[in-house]
Amino acid sequence: MNQFIIRGGRKLKGVIEVRGAKNAALKAFAAALLTNKPVTIKNVPEVEDIKRTIELLRRLGAEIKRLRPGEYQVTAREVNSSVIDPGIAKRLRASISLTAPLLVRKGKIRFPHPGGCVIGERPIDIFLDGYKALGAKVQYKRGLYDINAPKLKGDKLVFHTVSVTGTETMMMAATMAEGTTVLKNCACEPEIESLAEFLNQCGANIKGAGTPYITIEGVKKLRGGTYETIPDRIEAGSLAILAAASNSNLLIKNCNPEHLDSLLSLLRKVGVSIKTNKNSIRIRSSGRLKAVHIKTHEYPGFPTDLQAPFCVLLTQAEGQVLVHETIYEGRLSWTEELKRMGANILNLDPHRIEIKGPTVLKGRNMESPDIRAGMAYLMAALCAKGKSVINNVYQIDRGYEKIEERLQKIGADIKRI
Ligand code: EPU
Repeated sequence: MNQFIIRGGRKLKGVIEVRGAKNAALKAFAAALLTNKPVTIKNVPEVEDIKRTIELLRRLGAEIKRLRPGEYQVTAREVNSSVIDPGIAKRLRASISLTAPLLVRKGKIRFPHPGGCVIGERPIDIFLDGYKALGAKVQYKRGLYDINAPKLKGDKLVFHTVSVTGTETMMMAATMAEGTTVLKNCACEPEIESLAEFLNQCGANIKGAGTPYITIEGVKKLRGGTYETIPDRIEAGSLAILAAASNSNLLIKNCNPEHLDSLLSLLRKVGVSIKTNKNSIRIRSSGRLKAVHIKTHEYPGFPTDLQAPFCVLLTQAEGQVLVHETIYEGRLSWTEELKRMGANILNLDPHRIEIKGPTVLKGRNMESPDIRAGMAYLMAALCAKGKSVINNVYQIDRGYEKIEERLQKIGADIKRI
């Protein structure tokens, strides 16, 4: 098991480049199964969740070639199984996205309840109800879901909750369903619009992606195509927050600042200087930070995936503020360790905490619980006095490509052992 050894307190300086978005690339790999023609996926982050997805696709019979670092070709000429490997599916939530293309190709699927970050209950009723509405039969026996649908038929689906993967998966399922499918109360994340553009390039007929209403006219089949993964807005956002919290001066390149408007406006309120260009963010922090309240929200609101990093910043800022996590009921428990580092945090209920700053954080020995909380511990360790050890680095590697090497280049004292 790898560990990160971090000595905190250094200012960071220089240029750091953002990789492709994990949560966009994962869905592109799933979408590649919808066609029997080759699909090229570019700007893929070389992270553990992508590796697991590639393993899943290979087990289903897809041929996957790594053309160069960050570029893959997926050809699913034949799909020879309708079962999603339970061992792997239990390690990542995104495995649920494969259910749609598999159902389209095979007419039936078997899969376990997906795993992934332990941040709340994470039900899959939106997927099951969606498949039923499109004409499938759903059964659950001995820990496995069985879905049968020799033919999918378009219908109206109204999501009871805004769900990113739910929206993407139903969009994929409907691409080749008979007739028209209307999705209402959709998630509007940039990754969804990007996936729809790619599917349309391959011959699908999807309108409205990026808004709460999506209409899909079913087509007979899809061609191959090329998908360019959009920049990872969560990685870019985490780096911007790190620069602010550590009193640093960073140029974050290869990102799309438009996707981070809600974060950047909050950072300006915190008192950080921010300049944006089309593909980069320059961030300068004087170290004098003013705390602001945050409330997570679906896009274009403040992303739940940046809640943990932002809490670290709030421990370094002046004032007492509320952090309201509205999406997940288990996504604040990671702050127990932040308290042990010296943060002044009051838990109000599973969705709300109060942070009073500034406080001096002290290095500790920690266990990374999930991708984003793991990154938050890493950031806290970089801001802290003394040495920290982060165990279970696999969780951080699930979402960030060789993060220690990239942080070393901007002056961080971090080692992997
Ligand atoms: N929900 C339901 N029923 C469902 C599905 C979701 O009630 O069938 C609820 C969830 O319990 C939650 C809310 O809907 O309260 C929103 O969850 P959503 O479905 O949007 O989350 P997700 O699609 O499973 C993706 C990202 C997460 C990110 C969330 C929110 C992927 C693979 N994962 O998850 O990313 O936190 O959207 O933006 O795209 C991460 O990358 O570390 C990560 C956890």
